[in-house]
Amino acid sequence: MSAIVRKSPLPRYYQLKEIMREKITSGEWKPGDLIPSERELGEQYGISRMTARQAITELVNEGLFYREQGKGTFVSRHKITQQLINLTGFTEDMKARGQRPGSRVLSAQMVPADDALAERLRIKPGQLVFRLQRLRLADDEPLAIEISTLSFMGCERLLEEDLEQNSLYRLLENKYGLPLMEAEQEIEAGLMGPEDAQLLKVSTNSAALFIRRTTYTERDQPIEYAKSTYCGNKYIFFTHMKREQLMP
Ligand code: GLP
Repeated sequence: MSAIVRKSPLPRYYQLKEIMREKITSGEWKPGDLIPSERELGEQYGISRMTARQAITELVNEGLFYREQGKGTFVSRHKITQQLINLTGFTEDMKARGQRPGSRVLSAQMVPADDALAERLRIKPGQLVFRLQRLRLADDEPLAIEISTLSFMGCERLLEEDLEQNSLYRLLENKYGLPLMEAEQEIEAGLMGPEDAQLLKVSTNSAALFIRRTTYTERDQPIEYAKSTYCGNKYIFFTHMKREQLMP
């Protein structure tokens, strides 16, 4: 399909979606390419801007496109396959994929731990922890929002760090001498809330993956509890499993 068929029973926005999808699969539009504006698409295919907008929005929600405020809409990378075996951080994961990791610090402050957090980090409620909220990007495309809370002696020094340019895990290990040993992680499906949706440039109520991780240093001491919201349509989590014994 390369043109809108007026008499088709298929709605026009749907036809345009399929045309654009085809441009991606054929390689005519490549990851990172700026796609034509609603107006241009409207003129090119003889449809209204509203129709073009609907087609674009649906492809944004499906993860094929992403929007950048004031810049336009771009073709996304393919879904990110993230392994679930080795303990790695965002920067390492993106580099392993050949993408440029990025962070926007949304907030960084010392806050008192509430009861639930205190239990997870094995500290006293009310103790001050470092709380960092970041928007995580790959090649400038927003992928996740992460709230990491960290507790260790002198964690307030993190307030002085440039956490837009530096990997948190690298700093902890190389500068603070805190080797990360293991982590427990849970993943839950859900819907994107309005604030996260806005930051991640997807629609409210689109698919989300909520990931919660507790990271431990040596001697089984939790150092980080992180809650992340990932765009549900951009990730595939991958595990390799081995069977240990046969069923009796
Ligand atoms: C992952 C984890 C977070 C961790 C982050 C560190 O995304 N879910 O718990 O804080 O990596 O990433 P970086 O080292 O890039 O700062």
